[in-house]
Amino acid sequence: MTKPLEGKNGIIFGALDDKSIAWRVALKAKEAGAKFTLTNAPVALRMGKIQELGELCETDVIAADATNMEDLQNLFEKSLDKLDGKIDFILHSIGMSPNVRKKKPYTNLNYDWLHKTLDISAISFHRVMQTAYQMEAMNEWGSILGLSYIAAQRIFPDYGDMADAKATLESIARSFGYHYGKKNKVRVNTISQSPTYTTAGSGVKGFEEFFGYADKMSPLGNADADTCADFCVAMFSDSTRMVTMQNLYHDGGFSSMGMSPALLMNQEE
Ligand code: NAI
Repeated sequence: MTKPLEGKNGIIFGALDDKSIAWRVALKAKEAGAKFTLTNAPVALRMGKIQELGELCETDVIAADATNMEDLQNLFEKSLDKLDGKIDFILHSIGMSPNVRKKKPYTNLNYDWLHKTLDISAISFHRVMQTAYQMEAMNEWGSILGLSYIAAQRIFPDYGDMADAKATLESIARSFGYHYGKKNKVRVNTISQSPTYTTAGSGVKGFEEFFGYADKMSPLGNADADTCADFCVAMFSDSTRMVTMQNLYHDGGFSSMGMSPALLMNQEE
């Protein structure tokens, strides 16, 4: 059987440890026959375990702060060289809010930190795509994915300013998706994922309770990181080549639910 990503080159942002969604995507992409480079912020390279993943995937780990244009330019140059060809897929799996991390309520934000949240978690998606676009680094029909969360559409009070970052991220996917589609038939989408136990996920206040709530609310239960990785591989493959400018829910049905008898019964107990 042919592998769905055989012959494809990629760049995967955001693997920190083996819980990271990007880590799971890297393993599945390798299994699916892809060649790719791995990247994360310099501080994550020093603290994380990403070199282990590099060995498992037999590839290079290239440091790049996704908010720094020179780093991104260098990352693309090195990736094009290492992969010996243009890029077919990119995963942007990056999120961080100093306000959420430092438990600042939404009504008392530190605005310097808000700028950081937006730059790291949303504008970096634009930076990555603008770098690729201007360097002519993507092959036609390439696929670019960002990871989002339903707090972009609905209120989840403890998600704080990350909600605004995710709304911006999804908007950037649509806007860039238009321009990249017209220019190179490159498609751009976001995947809106269930709550998942990772460093970024469990940094949100009340994550554990909320994880259980979402699990009960969703007819299929919460989607885990491995099934998210399977979906990413499908989105990178040619079988989804006409899908672009979409926010795709990968959440076991959570986003369509109004009321769950499973939760009501729990309250009555
Ligand atoms: P994670 O903590 O493993 O990954 C976040 C990554 O962002 C880390 O590898 C971190 O080093 C990287 N990062 C932070 N600042 C950076 C910078 N300046 N430059 C480059 N990289 C930087 O957590 P997870 O959950 O795998 O997060 C991946 C994506 O999935 C994020 O966009 C997150 O918001 C999203 N997501 C996560 C959910 C969850 O419940 N875990 C639910 C829905 C979406």
